Amino acid sequence: MTEILSHIDGGVMTLTFNRVDKKNSLTAAMYTALADAVEQAESNPSVRVLVFQGHETVFCAGNDIADFLNNPPSTLDAPVFRLLRNIAAFPKPVLAAVAGPAVGIGTTLLFHCDLVYAGDNAAFAMPFVNLGVCPEAASSLLAPQMMGYHRAAEALLLGEPFMAEAALEVGLVNRVLPPTEVNNYVQAQARKLAAKPLSSLLETKRLMKAGQAQLVQKQMNEEAASFGRMLTEPAAKEAFGAFMEKRKPDFSKL
Ligand code: COA
Repeated sequence: MTEILSHIDGGVMTLTFNRVDKKNSLTAAMYTALADAVEQAESNPSVRVLVFQGHETVFCAGNDIADFLNNPPSTLDAPVFRLLRNIAAFPKPVLAAVAGPAVGIGTTLLFHCDLVYAGDNAAFAMPFVNLGVCPEAASSLLAPQMMGYHRAAEALLLGEPFMAEAALEVGLVNRVLPPTEVNNYVQAQARKLAAKPLSSLLETKRLMKAGQAQLVQKQMNEEAASFGRMLTEPAAKEAFGAFMEKRKPDFSKL
């Protein structure tokens, strides 16, 4: 599939969101391609490090809203939830190069990356409430932990975007760079990791994550059940309909 590009070089698998005309929003078919690629990255011994990248103008605008209406993720087997489970349990180092908008899963995916580098044009947002749904990717657990409860509430309840410098301050990103340099910088960091002993990387990551690995999977399942139900309810229907019709949603009667 051309909308997800996969490339292996020097022990690094790079997955590129390549649907710039739709701001790299993700369809069910793209989630399937990503989930398959992540499984291959785990089982292929020549892959030591995984990288997610987008374009220097946009990382990922989250779920493709039209596709979401046509293929709602109603069970835990849905491609989006399969991808999230794979990423959360992925044992090798994962890096992300983020420039431009990172919306919804474009931001929540980052909670499962080990290193995140951002362009100074990066804009992060988790507007689940504004869409009449709820957080996914265990972001309801991991955002408060990482950002502190009140900043997480601003991001998750108000759904307000925050820029690269704020993401750096809360520890969501490691470093802010010019947007044209982010992908190359991440490749260089990935190469450094790929040159290290894989067994030590695997064990170190496992130990850092061990304390809450089960909790993360449990939270993701609980979120997924709520998300699937809420997608069929009036608030989501109004929000998604408004996006398709390019108007403001009206929640006043809900
Ligand atoms: N699903 C489907 N299509 C999307 C999309 C999404 N999540 N995000 C962007 N697009 C499409 C737009 O509909 C538009 O299509 P068109 O050219 O056929 O009209 C195209 O991508 C360009 O988007 P546009 O909104 O004009 O770009 P922008 O630079 O002004 O804004 C964003 C970029 C990412 C800030 C804005 O597109 C946005 O907020 N998208 C929705 C994000 C979202 O709510 N995602 C769901 C999270 S769960």
